[in-house]
Amino acid sequence: MFGLNRAKKTAAALAATAAAATALVSAPAAVAAPQPIVGGSTTTTTSYPFMMQITDASQSQFCGGTLVSATKVVTAAHCMVGETTSSVRVVGGRTYRNGTNGTVSRVSKIWIHPSYTDATNGDDVAVLTLSTSMPYTTASYVSSSNTSVYAAGTTARIVGWGTTSANGSSSNQLRTATVPIVSNSSCASSYGSSFVASDMVCAGYTSGGVDTCQGDSGGPLLIGGVLAGITSWGEGCADAGYPGVYTRLTTFSSLVTTQVNS
Ligand code: ARG
Repeated sequence: MFGLNRAKKTAAALAATAAAATALVSAPAAVAAPQPIVGGSTTTTTSYPFMMQITDASQSQFCGGTLVSATKVVTAAHCMVGETTSSVRVVGGRTYRNGTNGTVSRVSKIWIHPSYTDATNGDDVAVLTLSTSMPYTTASYVSSSNTSVYAAGTTARIVGWGTTSANGSSSNQLRTATVPIVSNSSCASSYGSSFVASDMVCAGYTSGGVDTCQGDSGGPLLIGGVLAGITSWGEGCADAGYPGVYTRLTTFSSLVTTQVNS
């Protein structure tokens, strides 16, 4: 869906294999069992009422989003590439991908960060304006001055219907997991110049095992229950040495507020 280039992928695959081999030799008990997100557990939209399915016109979910006001949803710009106000729907209050319950809204406006080109270049943020109000509790989001929330080691929560392994299938039921925030220097060692520290924040265990994956994009990274990141990209999913990369929302908070109030 986006691209680290092929050479990078090969290097990454080799490094991940080497890391996994090392982990097996030195600490077999630390190798997380691949579970469905990857890792984590099932949950409901009752527990995460602001968790929205972003779907096509047939209500087939392809991304997540976070309700921040009755008619505004924060998601990833890369989720909206090629979409129009008539091609997408937002569904709230639906725990299962194959459910028919909840509230379906059409979208009257799609705002994509004007500088967005590719998730690996940053600016991966979009705000949708809904035609119908969502009767669900909204999430609050970080303000531009809240940069201390990203201290390395801080526990963050990820939520989504994405695949439960790289190249696997989506989860029918909503899932959630917790992952630690990774320092910028560590994430830069993983991803080189694809990691744009001003626009991105990484989260995951050094040994991998827990991560967002395809289909989780656009969904929330919550820190202390507050929206602080947007699922954006990563090399594979849950691979050792390759944390998930999230939009650093503090950087875009003022722009988002302008859209929320528009
Ligand atoms: N780009 C993916 C999506 O569109 C999200 C990938 C997240 N990857 C990761 N390893 N955390 O759903």
